[in-house]
Amino acid sequence: MAANLPFGIDFGGTGIKGAPVDLEKGEFAAERERIRTPSPSTPEAVTEVFLELLGRFPDSEGPVGVTVPGVVRHGVVHSAANIDEAWIGTDIDKVFTDATGRDVHVVNDADAAGLAEARYGAAKGRSGLVIVTTLGTGIGSALVYNGVLVPNSELGHLEIDGHDAESRAANSARERDELTMKHWAKRLTKYYRALEMLFSPDLLVVGGGISKQSDEFLPLIKIDTEIVPATLRNQAGVVGAALYATEDRE
Ligand code: BGC
Repeated sequence: MAANLPFGIDFGGTGIKGAPVDLEKGEFAAERERIRTPSPSTPEAVTEVFLELLGRFPDSEGPVGVTVPGVVRHGVVHSAANIDEAWIGTDIDKVFTDATGRDVHVVNDADAAGLAEARYGAAKGRSGLVIVTTLGTGIGSALVYNGVLVPNSELGHLEIDGHDAESRAANSARERDELTMKHWAKRLTKYYRALEMLFSPDLLVVGGGISKQSDEFLPLIKIDTEIVPATLRNQAGVVGAALYATEDRE
């Protein structure tokens, strides 16, 4: 493995995953490592895990991209819908740069997945407006126009029928309410129709762990826009973070 390859870290609700990434191929350059997300997932506890993860790749020296499941502007986290509230206002870029001495770049998790799908995955070579959504604990979104990311779109928090959309349509809502795929697809139809009405996208890409079972629910979503499963699956966060680390201009 070349030492200067970018390193991607994906901070999720259950696991924190990391690997060096080969950006020519959009693939891991070494086997990925995963450590369980600490509870509570405070910035300090998570930074410890990041350090342990990086320590497992002693040869790695390249820039480090890190995803966070919240709004990130200039390295500072501004929202924490599904993570510890202590993240709000934390300059995680600084905390992590100080802790590791590495060149760190922090990006929203769905934005990282969107970048990866646009470069290597389901939206590769597609022009116009692509909206990548991740269906997990929450709903993450990435707006990519002609390959350029418009960050922090937060479309999981659209208010639909008086509800925060992700509280009704995320995969966690399907599990919580014990919905059949058919019933969940009705909620997703309402959600994606709202996206269609507001953005007129050219393509919708659906990611998140449940996209493995896309055959069971995507055909049941009744919208006019082309809608396809993500292809990078659970690699998208790590690959997108590494990509961001090399493209971020800050
Ligand atoms: C957060 C987003 C995040 C998404 C997926 C939402 O609750 O607000 O920032 O991208 O969950 O993790």
